[in-house]
Amino acid sequence: MANKDYTDPQKMEKIVSLCKSKGFIFQSAEIYGGLNGCWDYGPLGTELKRNVKDYWWRKNVQERDDILGMDGSILTHKDVLTASGHVGGFSDPMCSDLLTKQRLRADQIEPQTGTAYHYTGATHEESGWSIEREYSVIITDANQGENNARKIAKNYYVDFLNDKDIPAKKLQLVGESTTEETDTVSYNPESGSLLGDAKDFNLMFQTEMGATGGDIAYLRPETAQTIFVQYKHILDTSRIKLPFGIAQIGKAFRNEINPRNFTFRSREFEQMEIEYFCHPDDGLRLTEEWLEKRLAFYDEIGVPREKIHVLDVPDGERAHYSSKTYDLEYEFPFGIQELEGVAYRGNYDVSKHQEHSKKNLEYIDTETNERFVPHVVEPSAGCDRTCLAVICEAYHVEDLTKEGGKKDERVVMRFKPSIAPIKAAILPLLKNKPELVAKAKEVKNLLQPFMNVFYDEAAAIGRRYRRQDEVGTPFCIAIDFETLGEEEGSEELKDTVTIRHRDSMEQERIAISDLLPWLLERIR
Ligand code: GAP
Repeated sequence: MANKDYTDPQKMEKIVSLCKSKGFIFQSAEIYGGLNGCWDYGPLGTELKRNVKDYWWRKNVQERDDILGMDGSILTHKDVLTASGHVGGFSDPMCSDLLTKQRLRADQIEPQTGTAYHYTGATHEESGWSIEREYSVIITDANQGENNARKIAKNYYVDFLNDKDIPAKKLQLVGESTTEETDTVSYNPESGSLLGDAKDFNLMFQTEMGATGGDIAYLRPETAQTIFVQYKHILDTSRIKLPFGIAQIGKAFRNEINPRNFTFRSREFEQMEIEYFCHPDDGLRLTEEWLEKRLAFYDEIGVPREKIHVLDVPDGERAHYSSKTYDLEYEFPFGIQELEGVAYRGNYDVSKHQEHSKKNLEYIDTETNERFVPHVVEPSAGCDRTCLAVICEAYHVEDLTKEGGKKDERVVMRFKPSIAPIKAAILPLLKNKPELVAKAKEVKNLLQPFMNVFYDEAAAIGRRYRRQDEVGTPFCIAIDFETLGEEEGSEELKDTVTIRHRDSMEQERIAISDLLPWLLERIR
């Protein structure tokens, strides 16, 4: 069993740095200081993300008869999100540090134990200024005492002075008293300052529509609601029967208070969601089935079962309408964190939309004539989190120190071939031998219509292999003199190439005429 508290910040730093240097993921608007919580995928990251989404779509939509796809609008009618409860309730409790004005999630404050210093106000005798206002500071380090608390408190009161030339240290504090506090969450763990009262902060991005800007709309906070409000149209136009699912991949937006851990908690992200509609009798059974299917999916894309922790969310922590929810959590280098939720949502969403829209959204079983609002099982995955888990899992640093002791290290991204951004690199042995270059380009033209390949003729072949290892290319194809049939004694190798395998670094010879089927079989 993995240690829940284990983290590896250094590994995470290296992964973030590799993602930037190799063109997987960049901070959005970095040249302007960065847009917090937003990320841009570079050429390799875009390929990786497309591969994840394509694989998910193929497995969940194209290879199944009971799931249909949709692509809903991002701008969402306010009534949709009012009915779903997002307008009134999609919020986090927030509080502010009274000194630094930093905003914190009230429910995520680390409990503090120490001595709290309380004050009732402050004065500045020389100017006759005074203020009556209660303020407190906690000191958790026994080596720091009242002087530190007083310094912080003076910095708090000095802000209320009109005369900005008066320094904090010239103030006198009034009414100092102390209390011993255990596990209090009333103070900012970083500054020690008292926090203000918690207030609910809605996470949705609101915008205005039309020339006069009179109508408000929201950027959707989840893709799910577009599915619920279109479920009846999809049902009627496709004549599908229960149980059936509607799948969607698309952007979602949340004004997260504290975006962090690279792309893990972003303000703009992509979801891959399925709403699986069923008879009420089947909901719990299907929830178990979906859990297993989703675990198998992660395994197939390179996130092994043993690295995923299934949390059976206990009563009281689930959404009020859910009688079963599993969180699939992955061992990220910054801790074990949620990758996906598989939730049995009952008939909550469709019922709410039926009630608010006053449209009949019941399902009619034509065989039994039974009418009911269908129940829903929802496997809801984050695409960016999945990509991050795939990247973290793929990242390996190998020690290849030779027998003579010469140090050598290989960074290798062990992506599954189906997910790897580049499937094959085509490498002529020498760039100044026109016959080798021509043959290599011939191979490139043969493969390019079927997969993402990369042609590279710069630097020694060993260095080119390493460059491909770092971006996770599973196969390198070298075109050498034997390919040209110019090596004496090995004429039978004419029109064959060397395939070098990324993980084992082993090499094998294969005929160019067999190359395409050989690769297609391995990259699917
Ligand atoms: N329709 C249900 C729903 O949206 P959720 O647990 O809020 O449930 C589902 O989100 C998934 O979306 C999460 O498991 C996570 O993978 C992803 N996700 C949620 N918030 C995210 C954020 N701020 N940044 C990146 N991914 C996020």
